[in-house]
Amino acid sequence: MSRVVVTGRIPEAAIEKLRAEHDVDAWQGPESISREELLRRVAGADGIVSLLTERVDAELLDAAGPQLKVVANVAVGYDNIDVPACTERSVIATNTPGVLTDATADIALSLILMATRRLGEGERLIRSGEAWKWGMFFLLGSSLQGKTLGVVGMGGIGQATARRAKAFGMEIVYQSRSEIDPAIAEELGARRVELDELLAISDVVSLHCPYGPATHHLIGAEQLAAMKDSAFLVNTARGPIVDEAALASALRDGVIAGAGLDVYEKEPQVDFGLLGLDNVVLLPHLGSATVETRTAMAMLAADNALAVLSGERPATPIR
Ligand code: GLV
Repeated sequence: MSRVVVTGRIPEAAIEKLRAEHDVDAWQGPESISREELLRRVAGADGIVSLLTERVDAELLDAAGPQLKVVANVAVGYDNIDVPACTERSVIATNTPGVLTDATADIALSLILMATRRLGEGERLIRSGEAWKWGMFFLLGSSLQGKTLGVVGMGGIGQATARRAKAFGMEIVYQSRSEIDPAIAEELGARRVELDELLAISDVVSLHCPYGPATHHLIGAEQLAAMKDSAFLVNTARGPIVDEAALASALRDGVIAGAGLDVYEKEPQVDFGLLGLDNVVLLPHLGSATVETRTAMAMLAADNALAVLSGERPATPIR
């Protein structure tokens, strides 16, 4: 029997699955575990099931000890994990791709609709108690039909967002490190372009790339200025891909028309400049937040941890 530390609350089914084979120490606090408590608890762990709110770095791996075999992140993004530090210590790191693709693409499309149709503004207006009435020019947004969606990062979530946008009548262009399956490109009618072109021609730019040094502030003042002044930016990937202060200025000055954000640079803080703006929709990192998706993520992470602890290959290792 091995010792598995779970760094935050996850669905009970996944805990039970781990408990059937191992000694499980799962943090149950309503708040995130403190760093101090985490460093103390991981001592002697063979496996760690981590949430994206916890940093898994050399210090944490060393606090666990040399017997540690696996870090199973309950997230597709793994910028909270120092993967080279895991590799150096022969610790296998895993993530949860696939199971949250549809849920996250649903939120991306929700943000596209909310931003372009000014739905947040409408909702806030009604709740404010202010008088309103239907009018020919009242709260006009922009239509998606015939417009171009630029997908930055055409992995599973980017493709799923593109598929939804196509169903709403949008044309698709994308920027990606690698070419996608030609059958999928054809199905979506998607054309691969460089980021410069994508920014210049897209009516909506949706970010779906992983976060790392190569994508830090990928979208800053210069890139926002390269977008159409009628365009919208949507981010459901990771906050620091966008220079949030530059985005707030661009939205305030009309450099772009609007934005929809689910993630923030210094989460859970949100740039003050954004809070007072009507042309930005702000969601609290809900990309994968459905009961079904969170359960599937936790089960996949548990399966990954169990596989490594029994000497097998996990289904979704981080490569
Ligand atoms: C959520 O943000 C995830 O990366 O799974």
